[in-house]
Amino acid sequence: MTTEAFRLTSPDGKETELPVHTGTVGPAVIDVGKLYKEQGVFTYDPGFVSTGSCESDITYIDGEQGVLMYRGYPVEQLAAHSSFIEVCYLLLNGELPTADELDQFDHTIRTHTMLNEGMLNFFKGFRYDAHPMAMLSAVVGSMSAYYHDTMDVHNAEHRDIFAHRIVAKLPTIAAAAYKLNIGQPFMYPRNDLKYCENFLQMLFSVPAEPYEIDPVAAEALDLLFILHADHEQNCSTSTVRMAGSSGANPYSAIAAGISALWGPAHGGANEAVLKMLWEIGDASQIPKFVAKAKDKDDAFRLMGFGHRVYKSFDPRATIIRDMCHKVLNQLGHNDAPMFELALELEQVALRDEYFIEKNLYPNVDFYSGIIYRALGIPTSMFTVMFAIGRAVGWTAHWREMIADPHGKISRPRQLYTGAPERNYVPVGER
Ligand code: CMC
Repeated sequence: MTTEAFRLTSPDGKETELPVHTGTVGPAVIDVGKLYKEQGVFTYDPGFVSTGSCESDITYIDGEQGVLMYRGYPVEQLAAHSSFIEVCYLLLNGELPTADELDQFDHTIRTHTMLNEGMLNFFKGFRYDAHPMAMLSAVVGSMSAYYHDTMDVHNAEHRDIFAHRIVAKLPTIAAAAYKLNIGQPFMYPRNDLKYCENFLQMLFSVPAEPYEIDPVAAEALDLLFILHADHEQNCSTSTVRMAGSSGANPYSAIAAGISALWGPAHGGANEAVLKMLWEIGDASQIPKFVAKAKDKDDAFRLMGFGHRVYKSFDPRATIIRDMCHKVLNQLGHNDAPMFELALELEQVALRDEYFIEKNLYPNVDFYSGIIYRALGIPTSMFTVMFAIGRAVGWTAHWREMIADPHGKISRPRQLYTGAPERNYVPVGER
């Protein structure tokens, strides 16, 4: 990080020199930490459109060029050559593992997949039709009630154990939530299987008959998890950092991130895309829905389009689009009309002046739901799938935040527009 200065003069001529920090790539940042002390004003940036909240060396995005890199490695290369488990190691440790390190890490994750048996009782308490995201966030939050002996945030070994537990156990919790929804018995994890194979068997196998894992399904899941693994300071990751900045236990911070992810403007969009495609029904209805999306008086938006950061294309969407074809060719003939409708909508929106002018391109969630559906995963589980992939990113950011020697509790300020001071009026006099 190099430092220059940015001079700021207030209307009454008071000068302040603010440091400008330059990272390895990407825009520089003006450090406004002393602005209030010297000028008596706060910065104001709703939605953090121009605000960097922290220093990080995990993930880099260039929204203009459609670039996404984990620890410096372009996501396209990781998608083509790596595996989700290797990407987890990379995000958590900063470097690609040697063969031995990868074996060791893979073994650690495979042997921490079981839940404390008591945690399974939670699923007996939830309603049979509870949304799996509600169960996921509740059960992950409850991990702090089971693993409190290794929750000292200042202990590096405890932080490692936490990271391994999150990556290893999230698929088990997710599968248990799904099994509750469909009234089938919970299937225990199998440590002889790879990460995604094991997840598929926990989701789809039943005790009564053998289950054959489809290698295309496992490959597609692995790719989706790689693409979702991290995305720098997005809403849920910032939530994890903010919750964790108070020193709260890390399981609570991850539970907060899961809750933030659930919203339709964030991870909930993949579920919303499918609901929208069903609502559209067939290609003849597309113009009507595109018109609704453009109408300022209509709250409807084309789900799966647009991104706060990507303004040319979402590189994850490009990779996933190809996988979408492959999966549908091999598994999902029944879904071909849905995919064709999606492609038609994509083409109409890409040609439309409104979408061009506002740089609204299909994002990762536009295609991921179609793949999940072809794999037989129900719509209500789509955001859970996103959470399983993203959990490692949240964990890497939480660890970076805790280990930062300059770390402070996150505590933004505000522009107050409420009543000025006024006197209390007793209830009988109002
Ligand atoms: N359909 C129609 N109009 C849109 C859309 C859309 N999907 N997205 C943005 N706009 C318009 C919006 O109305 C606004 O118009 P105007 O300037 O005239 O007021 C303009 O584009 C800018 O939108 P914004 O809401 O100010 O942009 P933002 O950066 O705050 O929001 C977004 C980004 C992703 C929340 C938004 O594009 C959106 O709601 N998209 C649909 C939901 C979605 O697909 N979310 C998944 C994001 S990718 C997965 C993830 O990382 O979570």
